[in-house]
Amino acid sequence: MNASKLPDLVGRYRECAVLDELLTAPRAGEPRVRVLRGEAGMGKSVLLEYAAARASHMTVTRAQGVEADMELPYASLHQLCAPFLAQVDELPAPQRDALRVAFGTAAGDPPDRFLVGLAVLTLLTRASENRTVLVLVDDAQWLDQVSLQTLGFVARRLLAEAVAMVFAVRDPEGEGVLTHLPETWIGGLDAASAAQLLGAMGYIQGVLFNGLARYDEALAAAQSAIDHDGFNFRGLSLVEHIEAATRCGRHDEARASLARLLDLTRATDSGWAAGAGARSRALLAEDDEADALYRTALEEFGRGGVTVELARTHLLYGEWLRRNRRPAQAREHLRTAFDMFDGMRAAAFAERARRELTATGEHVRTRATTPSGALTPQESQIATHAAEGMTNARIGAELFISPHTVEWHLRKVYAKLGINSRRALPDALAGAPGADGRPRRERRTAADRIHAPSRAAGTPGPR
Ligand SMILES: Nc1ncnc2c1ncn2[C@@H]1O[C@H](COP(=O)(O)OP(=O)(O)O)[C@@H](O)[C@H]1O
Ligand SMILES: [Mg+2]
Repeated sequence: MNASKLPDLVGRYRECAVLDELLTAPRAGEPRVRVLRGEAGMGKSVLLEYAAARASHMTVTRAQGVEADMELPYASLHQLCAPFLAQVDELPAPQRDALRVAFGTAAGDPPDRFLVGLAVLTLLTRASENRTVLVLVDDAQWLDQVSLQTLGFVARRLLAEAVAMVFAVRDPEGEGVLTHLPETWIGGLDAASAAQLLGAMGYIQGVLFNGLARYDEALAAAQSAIDHDGFNFRGLSLVEHIEAATRCGRHDEARASLARLLDLTRATDSGWAAGAGARSRALLAEDDEADALYRTALEEFGRGGVTVELARTHLLYGEWLRRNRRPAQAREHLRTAFDMFDGMRAAAFAERARRELTATGEHVRTRATTPSGALTPQESQIATHAAEGMTNARIGAELFISPHTVEWHLRKVYAKLGINSRRALPDALAGAPGADGRPRRERRTAADRIHAPSRAAGTPGPR
């Protein structure tokens, strides 16, 4: 169940070091338990992802508190024990019986909580004899009461076992929850990290809004990115700012950003820097000069292999050509831009290219829409797990949904694939269309999917 990709964390060196120590070099005699406490949005969940990614060599199990499920006794504990349920039978009889009643697989009076706690402790301890176990609990303030008590009980009793537990608790809602355990307060980011994060986010918004042709908002977002950026997003943000500002008719601001961009990229000899400089100058240039600059930008981005920027340059050049009453050439570049964006599923930019193309009188058909009968990404994920032999409970635990929901999705999958059992899944999946409408076996590479009507996207480069 290990998530393996490290999240792109900004800052948080101290917090990561605490987690690293917990996972890799625990202090002798100290429990490997940590509560991450902080307000909503501070980055607790993303720190749990960090821990999960660092634990590729461990057995990772998770529970996710859900406000709506707080009244369901043992719901979260059940989720957390999912990877170990096969071992329940081997527990000492009193523990086994208590756990079975708690999880609703046997009838009986409400179980003795002490026995349930011991049962979970035994399960984790035995599992840890093979590989270190990492228990991750997110939004602990929303665990059902008995699950929370049980996990607190377990956490207090871990000593020499190779079991680590990390809880994330929201403050102030979770005040008083797990207070007796070692704690790290997750406060605001330091100023430099916060600035870097704002810069990154402003830049991304700048791109998004430019894609949507909402240039006022793109301008504001790019401006904020430039103001807050530590270093590496500044060049990118300036490019977004120049495009948005020229489209808003604010040429002085665009010129100021252009000067800063050229300054910043002067020393670099990359296709990106040269292409970005040429295209940004083209946006502000007069006729013949603009034409030459757009062609230079196409050449440079092509040289640098910067496909997204190459596509955006075809779009801007096409827009410029159309406004300069050269519709035939405009169509050629807009068509190339559209095919490239459509191929990379950049829906907003593809739509902007499509609108421009329509304005030149050309009719466009999009191919990025999901064909009916194709699986949604979630259905696809569930079906793949089921085909691999995972139970509904296990899939549910992995995806944080109930086994019922898993079953419900699977029934839709069966209907779409025209099968009626789990056993038929592997074969059916191999031949089923994915979200792109292609049979999976024959799915081609991303580069192939950028379909080229004539000499367009397959061989990008200078014209
Ligand atoms: N240090 C960080 N670096 C990068 N992104 C972060 C950082 N901290 C938080 N985020 C992002 O901010 C958002 C909120 O973080 P999250 O972990 O969900 O907060 P919490 O769980 O404390 O409510 C997420 O999109 C997360 O990826
Ligand atoms: Mg969270």
